Amino acid sequence: MNIDWENLGFEYSPTKSNIRFSYHNGEWSEGKLVNSSNITLSIASNCLHYGQAAFEGLKAFACKDGKVRIFRPEENARRLNDTADYLLMPKFPEDKFVEAVKTVVKDNIDYVPPYGTGGALYIRPVLIGTTSQIGISAAEDYELIILVCPVGPYYKGGIKPVNAMILDDFDRAAPGGTGHVKVAGNYAASLYPTRLARQEGCHVTLFMDAKTHEFIDEFGSSNFVAVTAEGSYVTPKSRSVLPSITNKSLMVLAEDLGLKVERRPIHRSELEEFAEVGAVGTAVVITPVGKIVHKDKVLEYGDTIGPVLKRLYDEMTGIQYGEIPDRHHWMLEV
Ligand code: PLP
Ligand code: COI
Repeated sequence: MNIDWENLGFEYSPTKSNIRFSYHNGEWSEGKLVNSSNITLSIASNCLHYGQAAFEGLKAFACKDGKVRIFRPEENARRLNDTADYLLMPKFPEDKFVEAVKTVVKDNIDYVPPYGTGGALYIRPVLIGTTSQIGISAAEDYELIILVCPVGPYYKGGIKPVNAMILDDFDRAAPGGTGHVKVAGNYAASLYPTRLARQEGCHVTLFMDAKTHEFIDEFGSSNFVAVTAEGSYVTPKSRSVLPSITNKSLMVLAEDLGLKVERRPIHRSELEEFAEVGAVGTAVVITPVGKIVHKDKVLEYGDTIGPVLKRLYDEMTGIQYGEIPDRHHWMLEV
């Protein structure tokens, strides 16, 4: 094992093990730690053809006191089951999920980036329908695999601002669709527009609501947040936005800091007035948005993280790395 902890990106690398559960005849198996990164699947597996695939993302941190802790795994257990429900997949018991996450982190403890490197062990549960079938219906058999890998910042450059692009001709999630759950296909839908954005020098796509294109939904892999000129924390309320655990936590921290928190529809015209804009999520933590590009118009929010988002970033990462008290009991020790 020879890992360059200081220079990790957000990339997959194999670790010692992953943990797997199978669902057959209406029952989940016990978990099995497996050393291989590969799976064997029927070529007619439902997940390959019809996208019956859900996933999650969470992180474990090496804390200042030398212990390793996981951020709010029970929230991911709940959200995975919300996605499973919507995709007609079997739910996975939430206590068993949290135990499984602990088990796989413990088994891969040597892959948790050391305290002070700024990295984390990314935990990626994936739930797939594996029944061989050619008709479109829910599978009868499933695999839940929880893999882990050490990661650094999602966007190179740490908390340097990224550029976002609004594309008028593309949507990520329809109002009555799957935007509110973590379905693999949502990410397939964002690939093409994100490539177009990258070709124009932007890192991310900012999606509007698909029905009217008047209101802000979210970025392709993170929630949208902004700080108003009056200092309020605002974030969109929309059925086609993924309920981010990071955002939910930041709203609590913002209130702790005495900020007004508004979760409401945000008209795109408000973009002109915001003091700070950020992308928030497990992978991106809080990444400031420096510019939002729409056709030939460019809105600028500064070339460093703004003061309010910086305070929230420090609070959040302080709790995650055990540098400040975990006053909301979010961290689970492994
Ligand atoms: N929105 C989308 C589309 C995402 O993929 C993610 C990442 O999981 C988020 C928001 C942030 O959610 P969380 O904070 O739970 O990671
Ligand atoms: C996460 O933040 O955990 C995500 O799942 C976002 C992305 C990497 C798909």
